[in-house]
Amino acid sequence: MKEIDWSNLSFGYMPTDYNVRCNYRDGAWGELEVSSSEYINMHMAATCLHYGQEAFEGLKAFRGKDGKIRIFRLEENAARLQSTCRGIMMPELPTDKFKEMMLKVVKLNERFIPPYGTGASLYLRPLLIGTGAQVGVRPANEYLFVVFATPVGPYFKGGFAANPYVITRKYDRAAPLGTGTFKVGGNYAASLRASMEAHEAGYSAEFYLDAKEKKYIDECGAANFFGIKNNTYITPLSTSILPSITNKSLMKLAEDMGMKVERRPIAEEELETFEEAGACGTAAVISPIQRIDDPENNKSYVFSKDGKPGPVCEKLYNKLRAIQYGEEPDTYGWVTIVE
Ligand SMILES: Cc1ncc(COP(=O)(O)O)c(C=O)c1O
Repeated sequence: MKEIDWSNLSFGYMPTDYNVRCNYRDGAWGELEVSSSEYINMHMAATCLHYGQEAFEGLKAFRGKDGKIRIFRLEENAARLQSTCRGIMMPELPTDKFKEMMLKVVKLNERFIPPYGTGASLYLRPLLIGTGAQVGVRPANEYLFVVFATPVGPYFKGGFAANPYVITRKYDRAAPLGTGTFKVGGNYAASLRASMEAHEAGYSAEFYLDAKEKKYIDECGAANFFGIKNNTYITPLSTSILPSITNKSLMKLAEDMGMKVERRPIAEEELETFEEAGACGTAAVISPIQRIDDPENNKSYVFSKDGKPGPVCEKLYNKLRAIQYGEEPDTYGWVTIVE
C-alpha cells in the first residue's frame, strides 16, 4: 500500500479493503456479509432511487494515545438511525446488529485507521436504502444496510480557527413538521444550492432560519448551532433540525464545567448578545463562528474580532477530543473500544 499522508487527508472518499452489508427480506434482517466491492447492484425501481427511502449516519473511530481504537457514541448513532427509520417507514436495524457491523468494518480496515497525533480518523458511513421494486409511492418490502469506512483528515489543518457563516433567506433546508429531524438524503439535496452559494461567496457554510417565520435560528450547514453568554450554553429547540450527537455531548460537558445549559428557540436578534458561538458536528467537533452575516437584512453579528476561537469553545473542543482519543477518562461510557 502506498504510504498515506494522514495529516493532509481531506474529507473525501478513499477506497478501503472491505464493507459490511445486511439485507432485510421477508420481514427479517439476514446474516452479515463482508464485501470488497464498492458497488451495489440493485433494481431500477428500488424505492431509494425514486422516493428517497434512504437514511445514513456518520461517526468516527479514533486511534488513541494508548494505541486502542475508540468509536464515539455508537449507541446514539444506532438510536438516531432507528428514529430516521420510523420517520420514513423503513425497518429499524437493532442496536446490537448496528454495533456488530461497525466493529467489524473497523477491524477489517484497521490498516486505514490514522495514527494517534495526526488529527485524522476513520470515518464510518452507514446507510440504509429501500431496494425493493415499487412504482406506486409506498415503502419498499426489501432493504439493504451497508457500512463502509474511509480515512478522513483533521478538519482544522492550520489549527483550531473561527470561520464566517451567512444566513440564507432564499432557501429552507426542512419544513417545521418535515424530515429535518431525520438523517435522510433529501434534506441534503435540499441544502446543496444554499451551501454552494455560501461557499462561492467565501463563507464556511450557510445558516438557516426557521422555515415558517424566518425569525429563529435553526442550523448551520450540516451542524447544530450554539451560543455562549453569561456562563450559559444556549442551543436551538426546533422541530426541523437534526439532533446532533456532538451537541448532546457538549451540553453535558458544559454542565460539568459549571455552565447553565438552555435548549430553546433563539431569535436572530439574540445573536447580538452572544460572547461566543459555534457550529458543532462529527466532522469538526466545534467549528467556532467568527461572524454571521445577514446580507439581505444588512446585518452582521461578530463573535471573534481577531478570528481566534473564544475560551469556552476551545475548552469544550479540547475536552471532547481528549475523550475521543483516550487522553481523558470516558466518564459517561461514550466510547466503545474495538478489541
Ligand atoms: C444537518 C446536520 N446537523 C447536525 C449535524 C451534526 O450531528 P452530529 O453531531 O451527530 O454529527 C449533522 C451531521 O453531522 C448534520 O448533517
